[in-house]
Amino acid sequence: MEGWERSRSLYERALKLFPGGVNSPVRALVEPHPFYVERGEGAYLYTVDGAKLLDMVLGYGPLILGHRHPKVMEAIVDALERGWLYGAPSEAEVRLAEKILGYVKPGGMVRFVNSGTEATMTAIRLARGYTGRRLIVKFDGCYHGSHDSVLVAAGSAAGELGVPASEGVPREVAGLTLVARYNDLESVDRLFERHGDDIAAVIVEPVAANMGVVPPVKGFLEGLRRVTRERGALLIFDEVVTGFRIAMGGAQEYYGVDADIVTLGKVVGGGLPIGVVVAEKRIMERLAPSGKVFNAGTFNAHPLAMAAGLATIEVLEREGLSKASKFMGAVAEVLAEEAGRLGIPHVVNRVESMAQIFFTERGSVENAEDARSSDQRLYKALHREMLKEGVFIAPSQMEALFSSNAHGDGEAELFAEAYRRALRRAAGR
Ligand SMILES: Cc1ncc(COP(=O)(O)O)c(C=O)c1O
Repeated sequence: MEGWERSRSLYERALKLFPGGVNSPVRALVEPHPFYVERGEGAYLYTVDGAKLLDMVLGYGPLILGHRHPKVMEAIVDALERGWLYGAPSEAEVRLAEKILGYVKPGGMVRFVNSGTEATMTAIRLARGYTGRRLIVKFDGCYHGSHDSVLVAAGSAAGELGVPASEGVPREVAGLTLVARYNDLESVDRLFERHGDDIAAVIVEPVAANMGVVPPVKGFLEGLRRVTRERGALLIFDEVVTGFRIAMGGAQEYYGVDADIVTLGKVVGGGLPIGVVVAEKRIMERLAPSGKVFNAGTFNAHPLAMAAGLATIEVLEREGLSKASKFMGAVAEVLAEEAGRLGIPHVVNRVESMAQIFFTERGSVENAEDARSSDQRLYKALHREMLKEGVFIAPSQMEALFSSNAHGDGEAELFAEAYRRALRRAAGR
């Protein structure tokens, strides 16, 4: 892009160093090529080319307080000055675990790992160990990280057995993952009818944030709770995105449905690498060293991530989540309004500080098929035009837009003006 010469030249070097030029695929989707970041501040990113971008991606969710929040920085620096890796416990992990449990599972227990991927991998192993069963159910379009069991999309409608979404995942492994349709309890019931006694867990994003944003329809989460309880399977809420974002207690609190195991990540690490498995004591005690389900990690409960997570939650306790949420409310209105004005059929889904627009004639977007049927080319064009206007929205229709407490009225105005111009150009009007 014009003015992105330094980013362009770094990307050319990166193409020789990293597959596809990046270290996580979604970053390569930024058009016309990734921009390289020099620094972040509040609601903005500053690129090596000198561009200032309003950030609606926020590291794909973690930065609920925006970039470089002074309290979080202070906590990281304070921890850093005392050392940054001990191979032994530190006080911060006790304090952060107590804090998390207070909101997510009072009386429960925690295992800290280093990413959402590790959290869901551990949760699934724990569910299998606890129930002594083999199969898991996931939903088409839900993303739970990049380990084998969850890299499975919907197979042929007839089979309903998982088909790998990645080369390198053996069919035998993928076959242990059954795929149901999001927001469709009947598709879950059918799997339980056929495989009920062998299903260890149902894992779900209680608000799907990896097919754009798709909220649960009324009764869906409650239905999952009922069927898993009846059939002796565990319910895993993957709250890597929703935890401490849609409510301090995540989707469990927001929708009033309790899961057996909750996985967290993103916000609870304040922007440093983290994953968390949370469950009641009877389940968590199955993890090594108190139990025989194995998990370990050189970097588990990393002191810097503990410090950043704790500081983030403490700031949220003072500030609440409503600022980020109010901002996204304004954004959602503008997204719909301008599309409406231009006569572009659309659906805007929003839950608190996360939202996405789908350009579709379907009246609602409730599952992956609805999301995929939307005009993704128009979304891509919008992403490109928004960048030209100085606003960074997720480069893929399947990602969410996020806001933070650093996004205020000025940013809402900036977003609205940019979007009005960008959408018109993207749609060729
Ligand atoms: C719902 C959900 N679960 C798990 C993950 C994996 O987390 P990580 O990228 O930290 O491994 C993600 C990542 O985006 C996610 O959105």
